[in-house]
Amino acid sequence: MLKSKLIEKKARLGVIGLGYVGLPLCVEFARAGYHVTGIDNDPRKVKKLQAGESYIQDVPTASLREIIEAGRFTATTDFSVMRELDTVDICVPTPLRKTKDPDISYVAAAVDEIEKYIHPGMMVILDSTTYPGTTDELILTRLERTGLKVGTDFYLAFSPERVDPGNPQWNTKNIPKVVGGVTPACTEHAALLYRSTLGPVVPVSSTRVAEMVKLLENTFRSVNIGLVNELALMCDRMKIDVWEVIDAAATKPFGFMRFYPGPGLGGHCIPIDPFYLSWKAKETGFEARFIELAGQINSNMPHYVASKVTDCLNDVGKPVRDSEILLLGVAYKEDIDDIRESPALDVMKLLVEKGGRVSYSDPYVPELTVEGLTKSSKPLSPADIRRYDCLVITAAHSTFDYPAIVAAGVPIVDARNALKNHPAPHVRKI
Ligand SMILES: NC(=O)c1ccc[n+]([C@@H]2O[C@H](COP(=O)([O-])OP(=O)(O)OC[C@H]3O[C@@H](n4cnc5c(N)ncnc54)[C@H](O)[C@@H]3O)[C@@H](O)[C@H]2O)c1
Repeated sequence: MLKSKLIEKKARLGVIGLGYVGLPLCVEFARAGYHVTGIDNDPRKVKKLQAGESYIQDVPTASLREIIEAGRFTATTDFSVMRELDTVDICVPTPLRKTKDPDISYVAAAVDEIEKYIHPGMMVILDSTTYPGTTDELILTRLERTGLKVGTDFYLAFSPERVDPGNPQWNTKNIPKVVGGVTPACTEHAALLYRSTLGPVVPVSSTRVAEMVKLLENTFRSVNIGLVNELALMCDRMKIDVWEVIDAAATKPFGFMRFYPGPGLGGHCIPIDPFYLSWKAKETGFEARFIELAGQINSNMPHYVASKVTDCLNDVGKPVRDSEILLLGVAYKEDIDDIRESPALDVMKLLVEKGGRVSYSDPYVPELTVEGLTKSSKPLSPADIRRYDCLVITAAHSTFDYPAIVAAGVPIVDARNALKNHPAPHVRKI
């Protein structure tokens, strides 16, 4: 019985996909006293984990070694270990195709493997963000082809991951976990697993509700960021300080939530997930207008930043062509190493297209390849900074010494979505 195995912590847990979401989940499961098997189809990652080396910033190598030495964690590329597992969480990527349609192929590939090894009493939980209906339409149909019946022979649920890498307060362990099962027994078993390992659990009535919860959360952010970005463009034309406006509005004790303008959306969630929803809504003939509009405004922000760089250089009588431009922070947000969908990369491409000589400095990203060109992070001493014609601040890493950067006197476009110091006259804030 899965229930008693979970209560006695004798269940053998599995996680497919050992990235930003899957690896921290393995650590929490193991810390709670379970044996966890992590499965990833990237042999380089598995090799590192087997050697006790973490590649995920939120999982210190010491924490990984602790659970390995306690005999509670193993990593493998061999999916047949699922024969011995009681539960498996799917944490694989759900990106967009070039056409902005969902690319569900990673989930499908994981489910192909589960279908081979599923056995009576097993529980499968999808944690990857996806459109409403995925768990029922893609996973349930395939797993029932085995002849096993959901809710009695096996359990199936969706439980969105809400982790915010680099967030010092909220992490995999303490963020409440929403759980929606295909049947009430599925919800009950999935809730039992998370209650015994993570923080509070929020059961909902179906997998579709749970899938939609995550998309509401991320669409909420995308639309509000889109709104404030549009306000920033408007304020720029009207010569009003948008930052002062936001800070004053935020003194209202109710009914207002602070969002800041920035260089655009980045990361594996906010720029992508809302399009999973708008794509699915189209099936019912529904056009998700807020999502599309926010997407347009947010994805246009790198162009706005590039236009500010042009203005900045123009003020000192220089064209973008052949100017030395340094981007500060290429990760999609502060204090992390993730450059997926980072708007800084778009800013970089736009300035390169205009003939700028673009370099970057980011302590979290020692090297990156843009448009086939590999670049290395540059040093940031005041003498180094003075070699540039313009600086563009795209991420607010706490290791950057902003007062010293501003004091170097080089024209700056400050596109951070956080205002950490008052701009000097040579600083253009967006
Ligand atoms: N990164 C975040 O901040 C975050 C937050 C909440 C939710 N999510 C969602 O969680 C999911 C995973 O995101 P992530 O950031 O952890 O991705 P990631 O790229 O960091 O990790 C995914 C891992 O899955 C592995 N993988 C891919 N296909 C596989 C397969 N068929 N079998 C086994 N392993 C496979 C990859 O090698 C990789 O290690 C996505 O749906 C994402 O939208 C991410």
